[in-house]
Amino acid sequence: MTTIAATTPTPDTAPTPSAPGREWWRSAVIYQVYPRSFADSDGDGMGDLPGITSRLGALRGLGVDAVWLSPFQRSPQRDAGYDVSDYRDVDPRFGTLADFDAMLAEAHDLGLRVIIDIVPNHSSSDHAWFQEALAAAPGSAERARYIFRDGKGENGELPPNNWESIFGGHAWTRITEPDGTPGQWYLHLFDKSQPDLDWENPWVWEQFRGILRFWLDRGVDGFRVDVAHGMVKEAGLPDYTPPAGTGSMGGVALEPEIAAHAESDPPTPPYFAQDGVHAIYRDWHKVLEEYAGDRVLCGEAWVEPLDKLARWVRPDEMQQTFNFGYLETPWDARALRSIIDRSIEAFSSVGAPSTWVLSNHDVVRHATRLALEGENLQGHGIGPKTKGLPDPAFALHRARAATALMLALPGSAYLYQGEELGLPEAIDLPDDARQDPTWFRTDGERYGRDGCRVPIPWEGDAASYGFGPGSASWLPQPAAWANYTRSSQDGVTGSTLTMYQDALRLRRQHDLAFGGPEWIELGGNTLAFRTGDVTVVVNFGTEAVALPEGAGDVVLASGPLQDGDLPRDTTVWLA
Ligand code: NOJ
Repeated sequence: MTTIAATTPTPDTAPTPSAPGREWWRSAVIYQVYPRSFADSDGDGMGDLPGITSRLGALRGLGVDAVWLSPFQRSPQRDAGYDVSDYRDVDPRFGTLADFDAMLAEAHDLGLRVIIDIVPNHSSSDHAWFQEALAAAPGSAERARYIFRDGKGENGELPPNNWESIFGGHAWTRITEPDGTPGQWYLHLFDKSQPDLDWENPWVWEQFRGILRFWLDRGVDGFRVDVAHGMVKEAGLPDYTPPAGTGSMGGVALEPEIAAHAESDPPTPPYFAQDGVHAIYRDWHKVLEEYAGDRVLCGEAWVEPLDKLARWVRPDEMQQTFNFGYLETPWDARALRSIIDRSIEAFSSVGAPSTWVLSNHDVVRHATRLALEGENLQGHGIGPKTKGLPDPAFALHRARAATALMLALPGSAYLYQGEELGLPEAIDLPDDARQDPTWFRTDGERYGRDGCRVPIPWEGDAASYGFGPGSASWLPQPAAWANYTRSSQDGVTGSTLTMYQDALRLRRQHDLAFGGPEWIELGGNTLAFRTGDVTVVVNFGTEAVALPEGAGDVVLASGPLQDGDLPRDTTVWLA
């Protein structure tokens, strides 16, 4: 059956959309909206869909091509919406399906594509599927939707294996059977309110085909697929202990030396990056092909090394996958040049664009992270007791240089709301305000991810800084947010917002998404390359360096020059 959904207008931001090899997602800059924290229309302190609709014009003004919305579907919000209890409805905190349709129509009118999150590895424990499974008997069709197992030990009192939850603690919870006796255990790689679905079960496949079509029929341009490396588990669910230094989602902390070589493959956990996941994405690819308009799947796959990750974007699977290896690479010229080359090589080998990302709702914002001293594992977060916290001005200076480098690279880039304002991580959140399950499941040993999720400032000098009509915000905004509002940066030369707008405009004008890099050796601790008619120079050293002769005028600078030279932690584009 072929369903032709309402066609979306062609955004005039894409160079030549839909021409072979020029599909919009090959070059798009995609802005992540975290609905809870973007814009609140009704003053309850929680962002919502009408709030998003009212602020889409600002994103158009920023110059992005598309938005990705983190989950807004019905959910008890025990993991900020990544615990979905009804995949085909909007959570009342965020609005209604009609609000979603209005938001989508407005985005399309503005020439912005919209991709939404889909969470297929697990549902909420409140989902009717799971509630029915709890009420049914062991071995029933309802139990087979999830990964229920008998426990080990004489009376089944021990978990079926030694897996740990990504958020800390055991990955198994024992249930009480309907007759009141201690019963089976169910697997939850995340919080116990997020039971893992069993993707060995064709019933699960059928449910998700229907869910994809539900949103495609409404006109979405694609999906960001949550835990796209985790849905299939190794047969027999063998015990596994992750090596020390493994980030929450399975990524390994990369020291510059290791990142520059990355020769040894990290071990594959039995719950991540199993070959069986690819059949699911081939199936989803076909579902998307039923629809006109270059719909896209983007995988959240924390998989190393890059040539293995590239399997997620083979021609009949997903179109894009996040490049977390790039995000996790420290601020180091050699390591960055290596990951850039290896990314382009790996993704090109399967005909996919590379993607680039520096921040999202799961990692410490790069306007803080890139200047942290010491190790910071993904998902663990930072807080008041973290050692080696950077000077915010220095960290922002470096982050702007990193952004100017990233936006010059070929392929597609993801931005996280607030980075265009230069927002740092919120470090001094009071303990009793924290909401990330990681904080609770580790008894406060890991701060978790709340620090990058604080509602963003739009205007004014008092909380909520235009986030909502009043002062309410679900996480408290630091007083310093007054210095980061969009209105205070709009049209201001040298502001972070202006730098992002200029970079996005120039990126499009010079068609950089289809450009280099062709590396140039400038010496010193620099990275330099040509891409199309633009020369990019980044100074990683501590001393200022001279700009190359004859490379043109400075068209973009991440910070002020020093007597015509390029100071430390600064990027320029010359043309
Ligand atoms: C990845 C999401 O980005 C994160 O926020 C969430 O907690 C986990 N997946 C579980 O869904």
